[in-house]
Amino acid sequence: MNTDKQMNSLWGIIINYMRSISFIRYIYRSLTSFVGFKYDYKRFLAYGGGQYNVNDVERRNYEQAIFCHSLEKSLSLKVRGLNHGWKDAYNLLNLLRVAKQSGSTGYHDKASKQILEKFIELPENINLEKSQLLKKELEKFDFNSNDIHGAMEYSLNDFYKGKLVQPEDFFLTRYSLREFQDKIVGDEMIHRAVRLAMKTPSVCNRQPWHIYHTCDKEVKSRVLSYQNGNRSFGKNIPNLIVVTADMKAFFTSREHYQHWIDGGLLSMSLMYSFHSLGIATCALNWSQSPKNDKLLRKAVNIKSGHTIIMMLAVGYPDENNKVCRSARRPFEEIYSTLEKR
Ligand SMILES: Cc1cc2nc3c(=O)[nH]c(=O)nc-3n(C[C@H](O)[C@H](O)[C@H](O)COP(=O)(O)O)c2cc1C
Repeated sequence: MNTDKQMNSLWGIIINYMRSISFIRYIYRSLTSFVGFKYDYKRFLAYGGGQYNVNDVERRNYEQAIFCHSLEKSLSLKVRGLNHGWKDAYNLLNLLRVAKQSGSTGYHDKASKQILEKFIELPENINLEKSQLLKKELEKFDFNSNDIHGAMEYSLNDFYKGKLVQPEDFFLTRYSLREFQDKIVGDEMIHRAVRLAMKTPSVCNRQPWHIYHTCDKEVKSRVLSYQNGNRSFGKNIPNLIVVTADMKAFFTSREHYQHWIDGGLLSMSLMYSFHSLGIATCALNWSQSPKNDKLLRKAVNIKSGHTIIMMLAVGYPDENNKVCRSARRPFEEIYSTLEKR
Protein backbone atom coordinates (compact mmCIF):
# COMPACT_ATOMS: atom_id res chain seq x y z
CA MET A 1 0.00 0.00 0.00
CA ASN A 2 2.80 2.29 1.02
CA THR A 3 4.74 1.40 -2.12
CA ASP A 4 1.63 2.23 -4.22
CA LYS A 5 1.37 5.62 -2.58
CA GLN A 6 5.05 6.28 -3.14
CA MET A 7 4.74 5.26 -6.80
CA ASN A 8 1.76 7.57 -7.26
CA SER A 9 3.54 10.51 -5.73
CA LEU A 10 6.64 9.78 -7.85
CA TRP A 11 4.48 9.75 -10.98
CA GLY A 12 2.90 12.99 -9.82
CA ILE A 13 6.32 14.59 -9.49
CA ILE A 14 7.40 13.32 -12.93
CA ILE A 15 4.20 14.52 -14.58
CA ASN A 16 4.46 17.92 -12.91
CA TYR A 17 8.10 18.12 -13.91
CA MET A 18 7.25 17.24 -17.53
CA ARG A 19 4.45 19.80 -17.51
CA SER A 20 6.75 22.52 -16.23
CA ILE A 21 9.41 21.53 -18.81
CA SER A 22 6.90 21.68 -21.67
CA PHE A 23 5.57 24.98 -20.30
CA ILE A 24 9.08 26.42 -20.19
CA ARG A 25 9.72 25.06 -23.68
CA TYR A 26 6.47 26.65 -24.87
CA ILE A 27 7.47 30.02 -23.40
CA TYR A 28 10.95 29.69 -24.90
CA ARG A 29 9.54 28.85 -28.32
CA SER A 30 7.01 31.69 -28.16
CA LEU A 31 9.73 34.18 -27.34
CA THR A 32 12.23 32.95 -29.94
CA SER A 33 9.45 32.83 -32.59
CA PHE A 34 8.63 36.42 -31.74
CA VAL A 35 12.29 37.40 -32.15
CA GLY A 36 12.33 35.59 -35.52
CA PHE A 37 9.12 37.25 -36.75
CA LYS A 38 10.39 40.63 -35.61
CA TYR A 39 13.64 40.09 -37.50
CA ASP A 40 11.76 39.14 -40.68
CA TYR A 41 9.40 42.08 -40.27
CA LYS A 42 12.28 44.52 -39.85
CA ARG A 43 14.03 43.08 -42.89
CA PHE A 44 10.84 43.35 -44.96
CA LEU A 45 10.48 47.02 -44.00
CA ALA A 46 14.16 47.74 -44.58
CA TYR A 47 14.72 45.87 -47.83
CA GLY A 48 11.27 45.25 -49.35
CA GLY A 49 10.30 47.09 -52.51
CA GLY A 50 7.88 49.21 -50.46
CA GLN A 51 10.83 51.56 -49.99
CA TYR A 52 9.68 53.63 -52.94
CA ASN A 53 12.59 54.72 -55.05
CA VAL A 54 12.01 54.40 -58.78
CA ASN A 55 15.52 55.63 -59.46
CA ASP A 56 16.84 52.40 -57.99
CA VAL A 57 17.23 50.40 -61.19
CA GLU A 58 16.71 47.01 -59.50
CA ARG A 59 13.56 48.04 -57.71
CA ARG A 60 12.18 49.79 -60.78
CA ASN A 61 12.82 46.74 -62.91
CA TYR A 62 10.88 44.52 -60.53
CA GLU A 63 7.99 46.93 -60.93
CA GLN A 64 8.49 46.98 -64.70
CA ALA A 65 8.32 43.17 -64.60
CA ILE A 66 4.85 43.35 -63.05
CA PHE A 67 3.47 45.65 -65.76
CA CYS A 68 5.36 43.79 -68.51
CA HIS A 69 3.78 40.60 -67.35
CA SER A 70 0.32 42.16 -67.24
CA LEU A 71 0.73 43.42 -70.78
CA GLU A 72 2.13 40.09 -71.98
CA LYS A 73 -0.96 38.42 -70.52
CA SER A 74 -3.08 40.89 -72.42
CA LEU A 75 -1.16 40.15 -75.64
CA SER A 76 -1.65 36.43 -75.12
CA LEU A 77 -5.43 36.57 -74.74
CA LYS A 78 -7.35 34.89 -77.55
CA VAL A 79 -10.20 37.35 -77.02
CA ARG A 80 -9.22 40.81 -75.86
CA GLY A 81 -11.38 43.69 -74.68
CA LEU A 82 -10.80 46.83 -76.77
CA ASN A 83 -9.36 48.89 -73.92
CA HIS A 84 -7.50 46.03 -72.34
CA GLY A 85 -3.91 46.75 -71.30
CA TRP A 86 -3.80 50.54 -71.72
CA LYS A 87 -3.40 51.23 -68.02
CA ASP A 88 -0.36 48.94 -67.87
CA ALA A 89 0.98 50.50 -71.05
CA TYR A 90 0.97 53.98 -69.49
CA ASN A 91 2.51 52.65 -66.28
CA LEU A 92 5.33 51.14 -68.32
CA LEU A 93 5.80 54.36 -70.25
CA ASN A 94 6.12 56.34 -67.02
CA LEU A 95 8.78 54.00 -65.69
CA LEU A 96 10.60 54.13 -69.02
CA ARG A 97 10.77 57.89 -68.70
CA VAL A 98 12.34 57.45 -65.26
CA ALA A 99 14.84 55.02 -66.79
CA LYS A 100 15.82 57.61 -69.39
CA GLN A 101 16.13 60.38 -66.81
CA SER A 102 18.15 58.28 -64.39
CA GLY A 103 20.44 57.06 -67.16
CA SER A 104 20.40 53.48 -65.84
CA THR A 105 18.63 50.85 -67.89
CA GLY A 106 17.80 47.38 -66.63
CA TYR A 107 16.59 44.20 -68.26
CA HIS A 108 12.91 44.95 -67.81
CA ASP A 109 13.26 48.54 -69.00
CA LYS A 110 14.38 47.13 -72.33
CA ALA A 111 11.72 44.44 -72.28
CA SER A 112 9.04 47.07 -71.59
CA LYS A 113 9.91 49.01 -74.69
CA GLN A 114 9.57 45.96 -76.92
CA ILE A 115 6.33 44.83 -75.31
CA LEU A 116 4.85 48.30 -75.75
CA GLU A 117 5.89 48.31 -79.41
CA LYS A 118 4.08 45.01 -79.88
CA PHE A 119 1.06 46.23 -77.96
CA ILE A 120 0.49 49.25 -80.19
CA GLU A 121 0.90 47.07 -83.28
CA LEU A 122 -2.11 44.94 -82.34
CA PRO A 123 -4.81 45.18 -85.06
CA GLU A 124 -7.26 46.77 -82.62
CA ASN A 125 -4.69 49.37 -81.49
CA ILE A 126 -2.63 50.19 -84.55
CA ASN A 127 -4.94 52.85 -85.93
CA LEU A 128 -5.65 54.58 -82.64
CA GLU A 129 -4.30 58.07 -82.15
CA LYS A 130 -3.02 57.12 -78.69
CA SER A 131 -0.97 54.33 -80.30
CA GLN A 132 0.69 56.83 -82.62
CA LEU A 133 1.49 59.10 -79.67
CA LEU A 134 2.91 56.19 -77.72
CA LYS A 135 5.01 55.15 -80.72
CA LYS A 136 6.57 58.63 -80.86
CA GLU A 137 7.35 58.43 -77.15
CA LEU A 138 8.99 55.02 -77.55
CA GLU A 139 11.25 56.32 -80.31
CA LYS A 140 12.88 58.55 -77.68
CA PHE A 141 14.37 55.55 -75.88
CA ASP A 142 17.60 54.46 -77.50
CA PHE A 143 17.83 51.00 -75.95
CA ASN A 144 16.51 47.65 -77.13
CA SER A 145 16.14 44.18 -75.70
CA ASN A 146 18.17 41.30 -77.11
CA ASP A 147 15.43 38.86 -76.10
CA ILE A 148 12.02 38.36 -77.61
CA HIS A 149 9.07 39.40 -75.44
CA GLY A 150 5.31 39.53 -75.82
CA ALA A 151 3.20 36.48 -76.65
CA MET A 152 3.80 33.51 -78.93
CA GLU A 153 2.08 30.55 -80.50
CA TYR A 154 2.52 27.37 -78.52
CA SER A 155 1.07 24.19 -79.96
CA LEU A 156 0.07 20.98 -78.26
CA ASN A 157 3.08 19.43 -79.98
CA ASP A 158 5.40 21.95 -78.34
CA PHE A 159 3.76 21.26 -75.02
CA TYR A 160 4.19 17.50 -75.34
CA LYS A 161 7.95 17.85 -75.84
CA GLY A 162 8.14 18.04 -72.06
CA LYS A 163 6.13 14.88 -71.56
CA LEU A 164 8.21 12.06 -70.06
CA VAL A 165 7.55 8.50 -71.19
CA GLN A 166 8.15 7.23 -67.68
CA PRO A 167 8.05 10.21 -65.26
CA GLU A 168 8.55 7.86 -62.31
CA ASP A 169 12.06 7.13 -63.62
CA PHE A 170 12.90 10.78 -63.19
CA PHE A 171 11.04 11.77 -60.03
CA LEU A 172 11.49 8.61 -58.01
CA THR A 173 15.22 8.36 -58.61
CA ARG A 174 16.07 11.67 -56.95
CA TYR A 175 17.45 11.10 -53.49
CA SER A 176 19.26 13.50 -51.22
CA LEU A 177 22.90 12.52 -51.35
CA ARG A 178 25.23 13.50 -48.55
CA GLU A 179 28.46 11.85 -49.66
CA PHE A 180 29.79 12.59 -53.09
CA GLN A 181 32.69 11.79 -55.41
CA ASP A 182 35.80 13.75 -54.49
CA LYS A 183 35.39 15.92 -57.58
CA ILE A 184 34.25 19.52 -58.03
CA VAL A 185 31.33 20.11 -60.38
CA GLY A 186 32.58 22.54 -63.02
CA ASP A 187 31.09 25.99 -63.59
CA GLU A 188 29.66 24.98 -66.95
CA MET A 189 27.47 22.32 -65.34
CA ILE A 190 26.50 24.56 -62.43
CA HIS A 191 25.50 27.35 -64.79
CA ARG A 192 23.54 24.96 -66.97
CA ALA A 193 21.58 23.69 -64.00
CA VAL A 194 20.89 27.24 -62.84
CA ARG A 195 19.72 28.28 -66.31
CA LEU A 196 17.36 25.31 -66.44
CA ALA A 197 16.01 26.14 -63.00
CA MET A 198 15.44 29.75 -64.04
CA LYS A 199 12.43 28.52 -66.05
CA THR A 200 10.72 28.22 -62.68
CA PRO A 201 7.57 30.34 -62.53
CA SER A 202 7.55 33.29 -60.15
CA VAL A 203 4.92 35.75 -59.14
CA CYS A 204 4.37 38.18 -62.09
CA ASN A 205 7.54 36.69 -63.55
CA ARG A 206 9.58 38.87 -61.18
CA GLN A 207 12.32 36.24 -60.83
CA PRO A 208 13.51 37.57 -57.49
CA TRP A 209 16.20 34.91 -57.16
CA HIS A 210 19.88 35.26 -56.54
CA ILE A 211 22.12 32.22 -56.39
CA TYR A 212 25.48 32.22 -54.69
CA HIS A 213 27.86 29.40 -55.54
CA THR A 214 31.26 28.35 -54.27
CA CYS A 215 33.63 25.42 -54.45
CA ASP A 216 36.29 27.21 -52.40
CA LYS A 217 37.22 25.12 -49.38
CA GLU A 218 37.49 28.00 -46.95
CA VAL A 219 34.29 29.72 -48.04
CA LYS A 220 32.40 26.42 -47.90
CA SER A 221 33.56 25.63 -44.40
CA ARG A 222 32.81 29.17 -43.20
CA VAL A 223 29.26 29.02 -44.55
CA LEU A 224 28.61 25.48 -43.36
CA SER A 225 29.79 26.30 -39.86
CA TYR A 226 26.57 28.31 -39.42
CA GLN A 227 24.32 25.57 -40.83
CA ASN A 228 23.14 22.88 -38.45
CA GLY A 229 22.35 19.95 -40.73
CA ASN A 230 25.70 19.07 -42.29
CA ARG A 231 27.80 18.06 -39.32
CA SER A 232 28.57 14.52 -40.36
CA PHE A 233 29.25 15.17 -44.05
CA GLY A 234 29.74 18.93 -44.61
CA LYS A 235 33.52 18.91 -44.88
CA ASN A 236 33.40 16.80 -48.05
CA ILE A 237 30.74 18.69 -49.97
CA PRO A 238 32.26 19.54 -53.38
CA ASN A 239 30.05 22.49 -54.36
CA LEU A 240 27.83 24.65 -52.22
CA ILE A 241 24.96 26.82 -53.34
CA VAL A 242 23.06 29.37 -51.30
CA VAL A 243 19.64 30.13 -52.76
CA THR A 244 18.33 33.58 -51.90
CA ALA A 245 15.41 35.77 -52.89
CA ASP A 246 15.56 39.53 -53.26
CA MET A 247 13.06 41.28 -51.01
CA LYS A 248 13.15 44.32 -53.27
CA ALA A 249 10.86 42.44 -55.65
CA PHE A 250 7.97 42.56 -53.18
CA PHE A 251 6.04 45.71 -52.61
CA THR A 252 2.86 45.27 -50.63
CA SER A 253 2.37 43.90 -47.12
CA ARG A 254 0.35 41.05 -48.62
CA GLU A 255 3.54 39.85 -50.26
CA HIS A 256 5.53 39.47 -47.08
CA TYR A 257 5.92 35.71 -47.55
CA GLN A 258 6.22 35.72 -51.31
CA HIS A 259 10.02 35.66 -51.38
CA TRP A 260 10.04 32.38 -49.43
CA ILE A 261 7.59 30.88 -51.90
CA ASP A 262 9.37 32.00 -55.06
CA GLY A 263 12.73 31.06 -53.55
CA GLY A 264 11.43 27.65 -52.49
CA LEU A 265 10.11 26.92 -55.95
CA LEU A 266 13.46 27.78 -57.52
CA SER A 267 15.25 25.60 -54.99
CA MET A 268 13.20 22.57 -55.96
CA SER A 269 13.74 23.26 -59.65
CA LEU A 270 17.46 23.43 -59.03
CA MET A 271 17.43 20.04 -57.34
CA TYR A 272 15.55 18.61 -60.30
CA SER A 273 17.73 20.34 -62.89
CA PHE A 274 20.84 18.90 -61.26
CA HIS A 275 19.14 15.51 -61.13
CA SER A 276 18.38 15.74 -64.84
CA LEU A 277 22.13 16.31 -65.45
CA GLY A 278 23.23 13.34 -63.34
CA ILE A 279 24.37 15.49 -60.44
CA ALA A 280 23.21 14.88 -56.89
CA THR A 281 22.12 17.41 -54.28
CA CYS A 282 21.10 17.66 -50.69
CA ALA A 283 19.04 20.61 -49.48
CA LEU A 284 20.40 22.18 -46.31
CA ASN A 285 17.91 24.13 -44.22
CA TRP A 286 18.35 27.72 -43.24
CA SER A 287 15.80 27.70 -40.43
CA GLN A 288 18.05 29.89 -38.42
CA SER A 289 18.08 32.34 -35.57
CA PRO A 290 18.47 36.03 -36.48
CA LYS A 291 21.85 35.88 -34.77
CA ASN A 292 23.17 33.16 -37.09
CA ASP A 293 21.65 34.81 -40.13
CA LYS A 294 23.54 38.00 -39.28
CA LEU A 295 26.77 36.10 -38.58
CA LEU A 296 26.66 34.39 -41.96
CA ARG A 297 26.05 37.72 -43.68
CA LYS A 298 29.11 39.11 -41.95
CA ALA A 299 31.20 36.17 -43.11
CA VAL A 300 30.31 36.23 -46.83
CA ASN A 301 29.12 38.60 -49.55
CA ILE A 302 25.37 37.89 -49.44
CA LYS A 303 23.51 41.16 -50.04
CA SER A 304 21.48 42.46 -47.09
CA GLY A 305 18.22 42.43 -49.06
CA HIS A 306 18.67 38.82 -50.20
CA THR A 307 16.78 36.44 -47.94
CA ILE A 308 18.48 33.10 -47.54
CA ILE A 309 16.01 30.39 -48.51
CA MET A 310 18.21 27.32 -48.18
CA MET A 311 21.56 25.89 -49.17
CA LEU A 312 22.30 23.03 -51.52
CA ALA A 313 25.14 20.57 -51.33
CA VAL A 314 26.02 19.59 -54.88
CA GLY A 315 28.29 16.87 -56.23
CA TYR A 316 28.70 13.83 -58.44
CA PRO A 317 27.33 10.59 -57.06
CA ASP A 318 29.73 7.71 -56.47
CA GLU A 319 29.47 4.42 -58.33
CA ASN A 320 27.89 2.95 -55.20
CA ASN A 321 26.00 5.18 -52.81
CA LYS A 322 23.92 4.78 -49.72
CA VAL A 323 20.89 7.01 -49.24
CA CYS A 324 18.05 7.30 -46.77
CA ARG A 325 14.93 5.62 -48.06
CA SER A 326 12.83 8.50 -46.73
CA ALA A 327 9.57 6.73 -47.59
CA ARG A 328 6.60 8.95 -48.35
CA ARG A 329 3.48 9.05 -46.19
CA PRO A 330 0.32 7.32 -47.41
CA PHE A 331 -1.18 9.32 -50.25
CA GLU A 332 -4.54 9.55 -48.45
CA GLU A 333 -2.93 11.47 -45.60
CA ILE A 334 -1.88 14.33 -47.80
CA TYR A 335 -4.72 14.41 -50.37
CA SER A 336 -8.37 15.48 -50.09
CA THR A 337 -11.03 16.51 -52.50
CA LEU A 338 -11.81 20.17 -51.98
CA GLU A 339 -15.50 20.54 -51.20
CA LYS A 340 -17.80 23.35 -50.14
CA ARG A 341 -18.73 23.43 -46.47
C1 LIG B 1 14.26 22.76 -47.07
C2 LIG B 1 15.01 21.49 -46.78
C3 LIG B 1 16.02 21.51 -45.85
C4 LIG B 1 16.76 20.36 -45.59
N1 LIG B 1 17.78 20.43 -44.70
C5 LIG B 1 18.59 19.36 -44.54
C6 LIG B 1 19.73 19.47 -43.71
O1 LIG B 1 20.01 20.49 -43.10
N2 LIG B 1 20.53 18.36 -43.59
C7 LIG B 1 20.25 17.19 -44.25
O2 LIG B 1 21.03 16.25 -44.11
N3 LIG B 1 19.17 17.08 -45.06
C8 LIG B 1 18.34 18.13 -45.23
N4 LIG B 1 17.26 18.07 -46.07
C9 LIG B 1 17.03 16.82 -46.84
C10 LIG B 1 15.83 16.06 -46.30
O3 LIG B 1 16.19 15.38 -45.15
C11 LIG B 1 15.35 15.12 -47.41
O4 LIG B 1 14.99 15.85 -48.53
C12 LIG B 1 14.15 14.28 -46.97
O5 LIG B 1 14.48 13.42 -45.93
C13 LIG B 1 13.60 13.45 -48.12
O6 LIG B 1 14.58 12.63 -48.67
P1 LIG B 1 14.95 12.66 -50.22
O7 LIG B 1 15.39 14.07 -50.53
O8 LIG B 1 16.07 11.70 -50.37
O9 LIG B 1 13.75 12.28 -51.00
C14 LIG B 1 16.47 19.18 -46.30
C15 LIG B 1 15.44 19.16 -47.23
C16 LIG B 1 14.73 20.30 -47.47
C17 LIG B 1 13.64 20.28 -48.53
